[in-house]
Amino acid sequence: MKVVKMEKSVSEYRKILIDTARHYLKNSYSPYSNYPVGAAVLAEDGLVYGGTNIENSAYPSGLCAERVAINKAISEGNRKILAIAVVTRNAGAPCGACRQVMREFASLEAPVILAPIEEGAEEEFTVGDLLPRSFGPEDLNR
Ligand code: THU
Repeated sequence: MKVVKMEKSVSEYRKILIDTARHYLKNSYSPYSNYPVGAAVLAEDGLVYGGTNIENSAYPSGLCAERVAINKAISEGNRKILAIAVVTRNAGAPCGACRQVMREFASLEAPVILAPIEEGAEEEFTVGDLLPRSFGPEDLNR
């Protein structure tokens, strides 16, 4: 399951995004934190890109799952992320750096779904909820 071609509305992507994030969580390389994360993003090309956290023995070289997924989509030529799902064992929230990268490529209204590994107890926010009064590309042109 590398990329999934989508032809539905953003709300219909919800389950597929969560399933894809759950799939990628299984690929997590997180021997230092033992905190696996899976992420999936729906990009403007209609494809869902997945990512996982990839740690490193030199700790700051590690990568977050959300930014791996977003960077995969951007590397394939996308410039807009329409929806995001993140799966962790406790439906944990994205870190500040990932929120800023979401802010760069998604609208403030784009949904961010936080889900646990098992079914249920999902929460949905928007990028704007997670990063209020944020700095973005348009601020450079003022
Ligand atoms: N992590 C993510 O992948 N995304 C986040 O937004 C929060 C943190 C990862 C980084 C590290 O591999 C582990 O979770 C513990 O911080």
